[in-house]
Amino acid sequence: MDMFSVLNYQGSKKNILEFIHQNTNKFLKDDSTILDIFSGTSSVGYSYKSKYRVYANDCELYAYIIAKALLSSYYIDFGNIQDEFLAHYNENLKNQRKVYLELANEEAKCLLLNNADGLIELYKLIPTVWTKKVLIETPHCCYELFTTYYSTSYFGLTQSMQIDSIRYAIDRYSNDPIYYAMLTSLYFAMKECVFSKDGHMAQPLNKEKNKTRLLSQRKKTIIDIFITKLKEFSSGSFVNSPCKNKAFNCNFSELLNLKDIQDNVSLIYADPPYTDMQYSRYYHLLNTVTRYDYPSLTVKGGTYTKGLYTDNRYQSKLSTKKDCLMTFSKLIDFSKAYKKDLVVSFAYPIDIERQKTDRYVMEIDDLISKCSSAFGFNKTEVVTQKYVHSNNRNSTQKKVNEYLILCSGK
Ligand SMILES: C[S@@+](CC[C@H](N)C(=O)[O-])C[C@H]1O[C@@H](n2cnc3c(N)ncnc32)[C@H](O)[C@@H]1O
Repeated sequence: MDMFSVLNYQGSKKNILEFIHQNTNKFLKDDSTILDIFSGTSSVGYSYKSKYRVYANDCELYAYIIAKALLSSYYIDFGNIQDEFLAHYNENLKNQRKVYLELANEEAKCLLLNNADGLIELYKLIPTVWTKKVLIETPHCCYELFTTYYSTSYFGLTQSMQIDSIRYAIDRYSNDPIYYAMLTSLYFAMKECVFSKDGHMAQPLNKEKNKTRLLSQRKKTIIDIFITKLKEFSSGSFVNSPCKNKAFNCNFSELLNLKDIQDNVSLIYADPPYTDMQYSRYYHLLNTVTRYDYPSLTVKGGTYTKGLYTDNRYQSKLSTKKDCLMTFSKLIDFSKAYKKDLVVSFAYPIDIERQKTDRYVMEIDDLISKCSSAFGFNKTEVVTQKYVHSNNRNSTQKKVNEYLILCSGK
């Protein structure tokens, strides 16, 4: 099964692609267009790219960027522009404020000596917007958003200066299709290096309690990981396609108003959020690095939030118990009205005595009954597979039933 890994994504379907294909294939013809309407990391859309035209949509900006990169139809060759890219990168790096360049040398010494305590003390000296030692209103001449916001928390100082300098270099290619592959590779490098649980970015870890991990994460080199990932886009294993695939970045209900969707899509694959955890919280750093607009800091109860969030995160109604089922029904009704086949994914813990379910926003039975009352019982089928979600950085395993609700629209 074709796969291109970018993030440790909450609810990713990359490990059950076989199950999805086996059950969905009966709906597909050679000229089918599949819409992955809650695309996340585009793992499902990408797995169909070699055979079908794929559309992808997600309300999160970073997910749209990933879809643009993974579903692209053009051959990407970084080798040709690598030297030029690195020249831009180095230009930004050398223009960093003197105080950061000096403190970065101290950081390197601590890492060489495996001196976690020294590192923790050093981070107290680094000026950031959170300590008000750097003012957002007075940005320096170079790109320095991550250095001034996150160089003592999610990332190290050198890592942050590298993120900023890669981002500066990426902006030199904003009119080139490689732009999306570059941002996607930067997300991957950030995920690999971030000092937070499981590569999610909801909040940084406590340095005192995680000294070994602090050292191992900080020793990783963002620019090297970025370049290696970017080269994967031009490797033989990356799927290229002659189809005119498309990516959209909107609330799914707005997408359904587009004539292109109404006329050209034959099958909709829907993997909505099932819990009240907002994706914009878990992956906020990816939107920040993409927008790169020095956002305002979120203050709650007079203090900054643990996750050091910035303002204007998107809140999906699908992640609220009150609105979820009613909101999702719009997709069911649309699919029925426009004669689309609809495949809905849902995962729910097997052991409800021991595994928490309080954050789930929908019940599988309610979802099945909504689908079958719209499409008819004889046009609705439910298949399940047991799956153990595990994370190599996390000892806890989560056994779930993976459901697919298959609705035939023809
Ligand atoms: C379970 S994840 C999808 C995971 C994906 N199948 C994968 O393998 O990576 C659900 C996705 O729905 C998106 N989402 C939530 N509310 C949405 C809305 N109202 N419109 C469009 N996308 C939404 C989230 O940003 C998230 O990426």
